[in-house]
Amino acid sequence: MPGTTLQIDYANVLDTAVGRTHGLSMAEIKRAAPAVKEVIVRVERERAAGEHRYRDLPHDREMLKQIRAAVRRYAGRYENLVVLGIGGSALGNIALQTALNPPYYNLLPAGARRGPRLFVMDNVDPVQFGDLLELLGPGLRRTLFNVISKSGETAETAAQFLIAHDLLARKLGRRAVCKHVLVTTDPAGGTMRGFADDAGLDTLPVPPGVGGRFSVLSAVGLFSAGMCGLRIDRLLAGAAAMTRRVSASAALTNPAAMLALLLHAFYVRGKRLHVMMPYSFQLKDLADWYRQLWAESLGKQADREGRPVVVGPTPIKALGATDQHSQVQLYREGPNDKVFIFLEVEEFARDVKIPRVSGMPDEWAYLQGRSLGTLLSAEKRATEHALVASQRPCLTIRFAVVNEATVGQFIMLWEAATTLMGGLLNVNAYDQPAVQLGKELTFALMGRKGYEKQARELGRPGRGNQYTV
Ligand code: PA5
Repeated sequence: MPGTTLQIDYANVLDTAVGRTHGLSMAEIKRAAPAVKEVIVRVERERAAGEHRYRDLPHDREMLKQIRAAVRRYAGRYENLVVLGIGGSALGNIALQTALNPPYYNLLPAGARRGPRLFVMDNVDPVQFGDLLELLGPGLRRTLFNVISKSGETAETAAQFLIAHDLLARKLGRRAVCKHVLVTTDPAGGTMRGFADDAGLDTLPVPPGVGGRFSVLSAVGLFSAGMCGLRIDRLLAGAAAMTRRVSASAALTNPAAMLALLLHAFYVRGKRLHVMMPYSFQLKDLADWYRQLWAESLGKQADREGRPVVVGPTPIKALGATDQHSQVQLYREGPNDKVFIFLEVEEFARDVKIPRVSGMPDEWAYLQGRSLGTLLSAEKRATEHALVASQRPCLTIRFAVVNEATVGQFIMLWEAATTLMGGLLNVNAYDQPAVQLGKELTFALMGRKGYEKQARELGRPGRGNQYTV
């Protein structure tokens, strides 16, 4: 895919750029390569045995056919598409929409949009959700709810669904519910699957073996993308191209291996905060998606053999140029415990010229006749240079353009890098045992049957508010 291949530039993590105390030497990188190669070879062997299923999604023709058929069933019939889901069942949808549709897509008139307005409800904030329902109001008849929950047990999504279901049944009649709900869930198990099948609701499967945060390239992320006019075949083609690159066993030419190798080497040296900083509005929610992927996959207290380890890099998201005016003071002069991952776009989808206007102060002359794209790119270069001058290691992931092909590559790049980083840290990147306790205690506080013991524990004296001020 010439011209659209993502590039990782790691010149500014080297000792030649940021010095020996804070940079890596090429010799160190070469010394780390065999360990990474070992992980790649093991992962490829496990893939052949049916593991790491997310890597097969770009080649799953049957899945693509099924999603396209669903898009055809609903396209053109709805003014609003409301996704109900959380975590891995929502962040990918938001990221694709921000990256590939116009920034003010929902505000465009129907004729100027490529599909329905999209609302991804990834929280149970009553003000936000209540306001959305009010906004939909009379438009409910032209609204499709895509309820996404792999497990089918998540409290937030179930609560949203109960509200939406009740509203549809009351306003449009019980028989109409089927026309307004599409459920994306496990193909065989879970409460949501059972309910959907019993109620005769339309469904799409979350592919078995693909966890929430690795599922954006399945029906989870691709249905809303397809409905909103994105080329899902091109997203998958981009991801497929990256799948080939990240399968190469030579670590130094494999982009996911290089990310894992470098970020792991810095992790070992104590640089455990990984700041992703896109210089592009379009890419800002991909940084949010990365944040979940990196954090939930790699933050673990036990290794793959069950031994205590307590590991995990902390992903941080920032946005250029906005956060130059909020975070960069800390990034340059605060603790040197971070690695910066810039996302840079070579050619923006559009540019805005800064006009030459007579009578303006001379101090602004340098801006006149230039463009916002040039200014934003200059800010990225300047910030990186300033960080490097303070011996802060910086990586750049370069997008020639932001389109389906490059976004598909980016997604697969980070998914594969997460698997390899998990291998280097020797943790299971696909589970999230620590999230479970919070879920169970929520069930207990909400009075779910079977959680009485936890409810009693939460109600014990001594947990009140005597320490509040
Ligand atoms: O990555 C994950 O596994 C989680 O973030 C889940 O996506 C999230 O908890 C929602 O789960 P579910 O899709 O089962 O409702």
